[in-house]
Order: sequence, then structure tokens, then C-alpha cells
Amino acid sequence: MTTVEACPYPFSDPVRLDLHPRYAELRAERPAMRVRLPYGAECWLVTRYEDVKTVLADHRFSRARTAGREDTPRVTPEAAPAGSILSMDPPEHSRLRRLIARAFTSRRVREFRPRTQEIVDGLLDEIEHTGPPADLVESLALPLPVSVISQMLGVPPGEHHRFRDFSAMVLSTTTHTREEVVAARAALEEYLSELAEQRRRQPGEDLISALVAAHDDDKLTDKELTQTGITLLVGGHESTASQFASSVYLLLSRPEQWALLRERPELVPSAVEELLRYIPLGSGGAFARIATEDIELGGVLVRAGEAVVASTNSANRDEEVFADPAELDLTREDNPHLAFGSGVHVCLGAQLARGELQVALGSLLARFPELRLTRPAEEVPWKEGTLLRSPRSLPVTW
Ligand code: HEM
Repeated sequence: MTTVEACPYPFSDPVRLDLHPRYAELRAERPAMRVRLPYGAECWLVTRYEDVKTVLADHRFSRARTAGREDTPRVTPEAAPAGSILSMDPPEHSRLRRLIARAFTSRRVREFRPRTQEIVDGLLDEIEHTGPPADLVESLALPLPVSVISQMLGVPPGEHHRFRDFSAMVLSTTTHTREEVVAARAALEEYLSELAEQRRRQPGEDLISALVAAHDDDKLTDKELTQTGITLLVGGHESTASQFASSVYLLLSRPEQWALLRERPELVPSAVEELLRYIPLGSGGAFARIATEDIELGGVLVRAGEAVVASTNSANRDEEVFADPAELDLTREDNPHLAFGSGVHVCLGAQLARGELQVALGSLLARFPELRLTRPAEEVPWKEGTLLRSPRSLPVTW
């Protein structure tokens, strides 16, 4: 039994893209400490890069043992359900991951790049046509990843609204009641079953058709099929949209950084990586793991059965790994950030997301070199009560 008093976590409600100063203190002084999240049992919080990587990548930390369990430490009212790839351990995880990865090959992702460019160009035409001003959240950050993931999955045009609102609810921490979150998840499951049925009748080149084929070969259960579809739909657009909106916000609130990219557009790929490192996208406290045996970590003994939350936001600012970690350096070359996680659960959509972020940022710079916020950065409204930080709207002019 651990008797140290637990500190409430997250340390505060997120303020724009600020990272709480407590993380730097903890990395220096208490790299593993007891915390209490809004839901579930007390757990350990680890903040140093090496320890965070261990928790994410070492098989002795289990995601499966958190699935559907009320005592899982978390910030969302509902614990992550079983059947989702994110809540599995090897070998079940490896089987499902192989199946999805097959339907999600790097060739398919590469082939998608010209399509991404077309989607971005179309959205920028629309912005140019109707503005200035424009809200870049509604006109670019959201519709881009929604269109990309819909086309990859085979969601018919015109059906985006069927998952957009529900998916925001699934990621809610305080803005929706538990009943609403459960209802949203049920609605998404129903939609995914319908979509799978459509693709079974009329198979295409899309991911859902590939998953349906795997299901019909007995390689995927009903639950795995729908949960995988939901993870791809929700993960495939909310994180990219939030990362893009936050990135543009950050660049426009520091006009010298925007000017640097405008002068040197070849920096866009390294800028995208640096923005991934620097932006603390998750508001903290998602995806706890359970130790399956006693493990030394961050100077403490984590007992078998105890939960650990690993802060990638903190790891990405670890001064042992990154030079001047508190600086946003768009020219940074050595950048082994953990924004896409690490280990077996490392983001399956990382290459797709990188492609979208690079194309969208590069094209935005080229089309609107004089882009600027229409109001002071402190007055841009932010989303509240959700897992991912993002401006609620991003009013710009040019
Ligand atoms: C900027 C955008 C994105 C960020 C920052 C991001 C971040 C992450 C992170 C941190 C994880 C690992 C979670 C953990 O181990 O606890 C993850 C997993 C995952 N992501 Fe992403 N993601 C992004 C975009 C995408 C896209 C576009 C897709 C899909 C098309 C996607 C699909 C997935 C899937 C399926 C997993 C689970 C992999 C597994 O459990 O094996 N993500 N993502």
C-alpha cells in the first residue's frame, strides 16, 4: 500500500497552450508522484522523458487492464471500452494492429497526399472567395481531416455530420454528462454498423471495406470492427484538427515565427515536428496503464496492479533530451518528441497526420503570406472541458 498523499491532477484547467510550471519542478524533484484524477483510483504520474517512454513501450504496463473499468484513473466520465485497439495488449493488440495496418499501408497514405493537396486547395479557394475575414477552425482545421479520414474510410459525402458532433462528445471531459457520452458512443457504434453493412453490399477501395473483409474472414469480431472504425474516425480528425488550429494560433500569435516560415518554406516539415513537440495537445490524464509486476520507475517502486499516467507533454519539454525545451525552435533538427506516443500503441495515423499538417501549413503560407489574427491572441476563444486543446474559433484576416 502506498501512503503518500495524492495531489489533484490535472494541476489546473488548461490555459491556451501553456504548460503548467509544476511539470518542470516534478521532472527535477519528483519524477514519479501520486495523483488523483477526477475519476477512478489514485495513480502515479511520471514526467521525465525516459520514464514516460518506458510506461508507453514496456509490455509490463498494460492498457487492457484499464478497459471498461470504473477504477481506471481518467479525466473522462466513461472509461475507454474494451474492443478498442487502444485498450488491448499484445498478442490481441498485435493481431488487430496488423489487420488495420494492412488496410492502412504507407503506400495508401502516400497516394493520399495529392488528394490532401486538392482538398486543401479547394478549402483555401473557398476562404479566399468568402473572406476576409475567416474562421480557420470551421473553414480549414476541421473540414480537412474530416474529409481525409472520411475518404479513407469510405464515409459517403454528406454524412460527415453523422459523426462530427458525436465524436466531440466522446472526447468531452466536463462539457457533457456521462449519459450523453454513452449515448454519443452508442450513436457512433450504430453509424459504424450501418456503414459496414453498406460496404458489405458495395465494397470499395476504402478502409471500412478492408475491415469488413477481415471481419467476414473471421479475423475481426463485430465489436472490434465498430470500435476500430470509431477510433479511426474520432482519432483521425479531432487530433489533427486541434493540432492544426493550435499550430496556426501559435504561429500567428508570434508573427516573427510566421515570417520565418514565409521566408523559408522549406522549414515547414521541421516546423510541423516542433509544433507537435511544443504544443501540449492533450489536456492531461488520458490512457493510464496498469503495472503487471513490481517495477522501479522514477525513483519509486510501482507495485503490480497500480496505475501510471505518463505525461508526454512533460516528456516533450525534458531538458535532458531537448536543448532549450521551452523555446519554440522551428529549425530544430533532432526532435524525438513523443506527440504520437511510443511502443506498440504509437499512433497509426502519424504519417497521415504529418502529411495533412505539412500540406495545410505550406499552402496556407503560400496563399496568405500576410495572414494575421483579427484580435489580440489573448482574446481568441478556446474549447473548454475536452481532452484536446484547441481554439474554438480562429478569426483571421489577410
Ligand atoms: C496530430 C494528430 C495526431 C496526434 C497528435 C495523435 C496522437 C496519438 C497518440 C499519442 C497515440 C498513442 C496513445 C497511447 O499510446 O496512449 C495515438 C494512437 C492512435 N492514433 Fe493517433 N494521433 C493523431 C492523428 C491520428 C490520425 C490522423 C489517425 C487515423 C487515421 C490516428 C489513429 C490512431 C490510432 C488507430 C491509434 C491507436 C494505435 C494503437 O493502439 O495501436 N491518429 N495517436
